Amino acid sequence: MPQLSRRSLLGLAGAAGVAATAGVLERHSASAEQPATHPFFGRHQSGILTPQQDHLHVAALDLTTTHKGALVSLMRAWTAAVERMTSGKQIGGGALPAVDVAPPDDTGEALGLTAGRLTVTVGVGGSLLDKVGIARPATLKDLPRFAGDALREVISGGDLVVQACADDPQVAVHAIRNLVRLAHGTAAVRWSQLGFGRTSSTSKAQQTPRNLFGFKDGTSNAVSDVFVRPAEGPTWLVDGSYLVVRRIAMTIERWDRTSLQEQEQTIGRHKGTGAPLGLSSERDPLTPRELPMHSHVRQAHPSVNGGAELLRRGYSFVDGSDGLGHLDAGLFFMAYMRDPKSFVTVQTNLAANDALNEYVTHTGSALFAVLPGVQRGGWLGHGLLG
Ligand code: HEM
Repeated sequence: MPQLSRRSLLGLAGAAGVAATAGVLERHSASAEQPATHPFFGRHQSGILTPQQDHLHVAALDLTTTHKGALVSLMRAWTAAVERMTSGKQIGGGALPAVDVAPPDDTGEALGLTAGRLTVTVGVGGSLLDKVGIARPATLKDLPRFAGDALREVISGGDLVVQACADDPQVAVHAIRNLVRLAHGTAAVRWSQLGFGRTSSTSKAQQTPRNLFGFKDGTSNAVSDVFVRPAEGPTWLVDGSYLVVRRIAMTIERWDRTSLQEQEQTIGRHKGTGAPLGLSSERDPLTPRELPMHSHVRQAHPSVNGGAELLRRGYSFVDGSDGLGHLDAGLFFMAYMRDPKSFVTVQTNLAANDALNEYVTHTGSALFAVLPGVQRGGWLGHGLLG
């Protein structure tokens, strides 16, 4: 693009107005293809295979009681609230009830907003099962410590997880806030994370977004085989899934001082096109052994990890600064899978062999069993607690 002076840029403002209008029209037609709401009822929970939304608010909660009845009441209340919020409705008696002598049921900040493709996905940690006296399946034992982990207890683990994804950050935050409010007396927030700019595509129809290293992320993403099958049990988890969460700090300042060539050698793909190194298109099939030995893509590839596959559904984050002159930025990695051993296999290999380790540090970690979907009249966790 030719260099433009500030004055000529200003002169283009009128044309920009026209372009902006065209942009609005484009956005409208794009959103016409995407439904504004995703169904709540179904065999699986939404928010797993759902084409990934733009924003995330996820929270882990710890039980403040070991009374199973209280947990059942919470799950029933959450089910009703999630069903309403994902259809764009206010919860309970709404934000502006006719009787004004008590606090409103709905906190109100989503009034006037659409559902924004909101999905809310609920899971339980092994620690919840311990607390309410239900045997943990072997698959839900805590993740092992990986080489290089610098995990902080306060942003790891949790008895319950609630993942809210939406195209409007305020809708996602409203969902988490109201679910946390309903949990008062039964569970309290342990950690929570906001995320923006999805870092993967969970549908081939979506364009691959870029992560904070500037690379396309999510080109190669397992998209369907993530649900627990009947033979794999436990029965309460059939049609559910496992979610691994890792808060990964990215040393973006060091990365930004690295040459383009080294960045591409580290990832194993070209930065511009997203194509595997030496090839020209993003979707060109890659042969891991033709990529640099320690490149991320080579070391993460299913073929060097016994076929292990993950559905990555992460988001970028920037949480202010680290107090040492750097942005506290990174990838909030979230991945769904049929068995957590898929993550353990891939991460064990990455921790030992991935060139990316020079630029990333895992600071938070959690594993959850994500409940199966809910049929009309049912409630989340019925198979586990009912
Ligand atoms: C901040 C940390 C990370 C960054 C910046 C990052 C970035 C990337 C990029 C740019 C790609 C290439 C595009 C693509 O094929 O989707 C990729 C692929 C991939 N990453 Fe990561 N990643 C990170 C952490 C992880 C972790 C922790 C895991 C799993 C334990 C992982 C698993 C994968 C897998 C399975 C692929 C696809 C490999 C293939 O089949 O070609 N990544 N990642």
